[in-house]
Amino acid sequence: MEKSSRLLELKNIYKGFFGIKVLKSIDLDIKPAEVHVLLGENGAGKSTLIKIMTGAYSKDEGEIYWEGKKVEINGPSDAMNLGIATIYQELNLIPELTVYENMFLGREIKSNGRFSLLNRREMKKKAVECLKLVGQDISPDQKVSLLGIGKQQLVEIAKALTMNAKLIIMDEPTASLSESEVEQLLQTVEELRKRGIAIVYISHKLEELKRIGDRITILRDGSKVETLPVKEVSTDQMIKLMVGRDLDEKYPKENFMLGDEGLRVEKLRLKGSKNEISFTAYQGQILGISGLVGAGRTEVARGIFGVDLIESGKVYVFGQETNIKSPKDAINAGLAFITEDRKSEGLILDQSLEFNMTIASLERFKKGLLIEPAQMKKKAENYIKELQVRPGDIGKHARKLSGGNQQKVVIAKWLATEAKVFIFDEPTRGIDVGAKVEVYRLINSLVQNGAVVIIISSELPELLGICDRILVMNEGEITADLLREEADQEKIMKAATGGM
Ligand SMILES: Nc1ncnc2c1ncn2[C@@H]1O[C@H](COP(=O)(O)OP(=O)(O)OP(=O)(O)O)[C@@H](O)[C@H]1O
Ligand SMILES: [Mg+2]
Repeated sequence: MEKSSRLLELKNIYKGFFGIKVLKSIDLDIKPAEVHVLLGENGAGKSTLIKIMTGAYSKDEGEIYWEGKKVEINGPSDAMNLGIATIYQELNLIPELTVYENMFLGREIKSNGRFSLLNRREMKKKAVECLKLVGQDISPDQKVSLLGIGKQQLVEIAKALTMNAKLIIMDEPTASLSESEVEQLLQTVEELRKRGIAIVYISHKLEELKRIGDRITILRDGSKVETLPVKEVSTDQMIKLMVGRDLDEKYPKENFMLGDEGLRVEKLRLKGSKNEISFTAYQGQILGISGLVGAGRTEVARGIFGVDLIESGKVYVFGQETNIKSPKDAINAGLAFITEDRKSEGLILDQSLEFNMTIASLERFKKGLLIEPAQMKKKAENYIKELQVRPGDIGKHARKLSGGNQQKVVIAKWLATEAKVFIFDEPTRGIDVGAKVEVYRLINSLVQNGAVVIIISSELPELLGICDRILVMNEGEITADLLREEADQEKIMKAATGGM
């Protein structure tokens, strides 16, 4: 084999945690200037595998070759020295620092003089150059905290370019981006490939993989299933290879009887907003809320749930006026809010799954004692089973679960509360295609049992697939209210962009 055909090669990689093997005999090779896609169910081992490439984890067995030479990657600096940069599932920039400070953190350029002062001018100049390569004209002096998540992602990529990375690894980079940001990122990936940089790309969004991937490696239960040219596999085949079976329907939709008014929001005005929001959600009618990222959907949910204080307006739950001043009040009123950001709002990472799944419910059942905590725990365990949370051991700390499995725990925690009204914010973000179907089935059964369900989602096919009615928001206002029969992609996009 000629030397130049392989940039990175992994041979026979094994990795286990406390005796449990999560990677088994993995062989993988990355060519220069290719986009190599990793696909697999939640917990299949994708993030673990790339952490071995980046020195975040050490392998138990196996060999790593870089440009044909055997190497050991014992820590992040080894990877960096080889030319491997990573953009992790969770961003790693420091919000209080500026863009260029972040880009050169720990690798500051110094002047040659006696005192080796920081050469800020040089760093800023390089920062601007690299930002340009990712299509950004952000000022290097901008504070990172003021940038949206999409821009931060691009700053991370620009940072990788300042290190002259030959391989950039991206773990679910588009999971929390808006549509235009996704487009920008995908174009940047294509641009990087043209410049000869190899990319390892993880995503659960199959369309994305089809568009930018050159080769795809599919993992299942810690083993490699196959590596194939992306052109040669259909989306259905991808699913079959990763799940191990055909997936008959992506959006299981059931028809329900329209029931009572469940949640009525009247002239809700958020602090600092001039708009008023009013809508009613009913039993038997799954209500979707669509809109671009930043349209104010999450803010409305936070206002209803008492996370943020509202300026004015009323919220009724099954006809009863509420006075919600905190999430605790909201839970007592029968609401559940499944947040999009599992890390900061959904989970306590260094606590067990059991702890995480019962905190929301214990509060709720303390007063009436409608249910024994033990019984509730059993209920949570059932949800864990239904959602296929792996590992399903409720004593495990949340930190030890894969990203998608953490998301499932957040969902289970709220399902166990037996709330009357559920607000899901991006419920399937980071969840693999097979588990998504399970989430939809559970949502259906909630509705079947009389709960009111509201789903905020940026994935239009998801909303069109499972909702009975869709509200569209734009700049803090509801701009459309469409029944399932009348809703389509075009109408929603139009209302979401203010009718342009
Ligand atoms: N630090 C850890 N300690 C114990 N187990 C771990 C640790 N990190 C990962 N695991 C386990 O390794 C397995 C693979 O996890 P990994 O994060 O690689 O999955 P993934 O394919 O990235 O999934 P997802 O799509 O959900 O992000 C999982 O079973 C997970 O629970
Ligand atoms: Mg992962």
